[in-house]
Amino acid sequence: MVTRNPVLVLKDICKEFPGVKALNNVSLELYPGEVHALLGENGAGKSTLMKIISGIIEPDSGEMYLDGRKVQFKSPKEAMEAGVALVHQELSLVPSLSVGENIFLGRWPQGRWGVNWSYVYREARELMRKFDIDVDPRVPVRNLGVAEQQIVEILKAVSQPHVKILLLDEPTSALTEHEVERLFKLLSDIKAEGKAIVFISHKIDEALKISDRVTIIKDGEKVITEEKGNLTEKDVIYYMTGKMFESNVSSHNADPGRKAVLSVRGLSAGILKGVDLDVYAGEILVIFGILGSGRSTLARVLFGLQEYRGEVFVEGERVEIRSPLDAIRCGIGYLPEDRRKALVFQLSVGANITLASLREISRKGLLMFDKEKELAERFIDELRIRTSNSRKRVTHLSGGNQQKVLFARWLAKSPKILILDEPTRGIDVGAKFEIREIVKNITKEGKAVLYITSEALEALEVGDRIAIMRGGKITKILPNDRQLSKSDLLAEVGGVVKV
Ligand SMILES: Nc1ncnc2c1ncn2[C@@H]1O[C@H](COP(=O)(O)OP(=O)(O)OP(=O)(O)O)[C@@H](O)[C@H]1O
Ligand SMILES: [Mg+2]
Repeated sequence: MVTRNPVLVLKDICKEFPGVKALNNVSLELYPGEVHALLGENGAGKSTLMKIISGIIEPDSGEMYLDGRKVQFKSPKEAMEAGVALVHQELSLVPSLSVGENIFLGRWPQGRWGVNWSYVYREARELMRKFDIDVDPRVPVRNLGVAEQQIVEILKAVSQPHVKILLLDEPTSALTEHEVERLFKLLSDIKAEGKAIVFISHKIDEALKISDRVTIIKDGEKVITEEKGNLTEKDVIYYMTGKMFESNVSSHNADPGRKAVLSVRGLSAGILKGVDLDVYAGEILVIFGILGSGRSTLARVLFGLQEYRGEVFVEGERVEIRSPLDAIRCGIGYLPEDRRKALVFQLSVGANITLASLREISRKGLLMFDKEKELAERFIDELRIRTSNSRKRVTHLSGGNQQKVLFARWLAKSPKILILDEPTRGIDVGAKFEIREIVKNITKEGKAVLYITSEALEALEVGDRIAIMRGGKITKILPNDRQLSKSDLLAEVGGVVKV
């Protein structure tokens, strides 16, 4: 790291929301040419701090200095003009606009006859080439998958002129290893230009790899700022949670029951080409594949969100799943990869948790509020969802806690078959362990879990069996025994082999 004057100094920043002290006297210095990782549990206050730096919200007290001058941003526009660019944790793109229009939003270049669209699309295409993704910059953003949207969001920030400080709030949560490598290459270039970067991630190995220094916050307070070289992954987890966690790769159910709870035969839809699969009672079957392999399509089909050809059987009986209601009737629950599609943001935390269980908590068509509260509170407790109470609007929860709310919705409903698409995305390390334990416990009740992940380590940690998905087909199903390694899995899916 270059020892120069800090580009940004934060002094004693405080921010309180009704019922929570989100930030308490947080001070931080950011230097030009450094990547500074900001780590902490879900709800620790990371996004709040980013929103303060980028002018989205104002602090209650505390000071901020940019290049030695005191600043007080009244709007994101002011911050942007001063050289602060933010990549939001929740994607902030306009779905109906094209990729190019989104990247240059708010600064469409004016030519002699209006906006110079050929410039916009040429530049956008060039930027995307750096990421190795083949997306036409003229297509509307709503047609893209979550990972591609995340890349557009990143490109939108990094391509802003005069950026001095780049804030990345969980930029990699939807990316696979290949894209993360591309991003890291891009960040090193940006860093070499003397810009400062703040990098937030729940993937601690990743954060340690890219950063020069690390700051950890817990319950809104800074615990430590340290050179990366002085910290191990274990130290970081300890500072974040106050606890030690051991990864537990070996406790798999080697002998799942022989009763198939869910079977599919010759399932085709979109990219899926004739998938055959059996998921047995009491097992976690991991579907492991890279972006575009068909994992999420399989999940959507099984929850009635996409038309299919082929046969689906639940406990041996042929069923037709043409809508989510059909799926729920068959005892299928589904946690989608994009939480914004499943949360009802106008409703409270409690209502979101109990949404799939309305029948269980109603009598004669009337909702019993005490039952709703009881059920919601049980899961708020069990999953340690950080909220002042169950009536809080779900929009006001931190990103990771919103994900836990969705998880709670299906745990409360307790379906026979639970389909989880990247369930630990954006979830902090402590909660990840807890969620895996909870998923394992569900299978002890004889239920079956279809667990989709693009992280090899996660596949090895949770799966009883691991199905490899490639080009819309299940190419292999591997029992998860001790011999199986991360590089085996990566080699199978045709991803980048990197251990
Ligand atoms: N607009 C708001 N209204 C009320 N409470 C809020 C609001 N924004 C954030 N909070 C609360 O402030 C705390 C910090 O939230 P923040 O989003 O900064 O956490 P985070 O560290 O980014 O977590 P995650 O890793 O889950 O994204 C949380 O308890 C959250 O519920
Ligand atoms: Mg956050």
